[in-house]
Amino acid sequence: MNPNSYSNSTDAEHHVQLGLAQTLCEAAGTGVDAALTREILDQLVAYSDVHFLSEQLLMRLCGYPDYDDHMSDHDRLMTKLEAAKQYGDGAQTITASEAETILALLAQHISTKDRRFVDFFRGWSQHTANAGSP
Ligand SMILES: [Fe+2]
Ligand SMILES: [Fe+2]
Repeated sequence: MNPNSYSNSTDAEHHVQLGLAQTLCEAAGTGVDAALTREILDQLVAYSDVHFLSEQLLMRLCGYPDYDDHMSDHDRLMTKLEAAKQYGDGAQTITASEAETILALLAQHISTKDRRFVDFFRGWSQHTANAGSP
């Protein structure tokens, strides 16, 4: 696999992650279907968990210097998501404003720390590809 395709799939994963968070806001905003809201939240939590792990693997692969700081951000986001899921147990589910907070935190992470990492990874991939060519 071309290393550059990893960064393209990371971008695609961010679209999915933000799409799920946006859908969560819409579902929580209508407030009519708590089960549906919980289901979307479950999907967002599961997707984010897998995405964060795959991003961290790429960071280790390229020796990303801000690994620890970036990983702490992932941990904070997962704690927030898991807490929202706990609250969503039973008859209740998260409020629209909590869903908005989650969307904003994810969008902020993607537009800052993930942007920096994807840029670094692209440069590393380019360098690696050039080093490998005759
Ligand atoms: Fe990240
Ligand atoms: Fe990410």
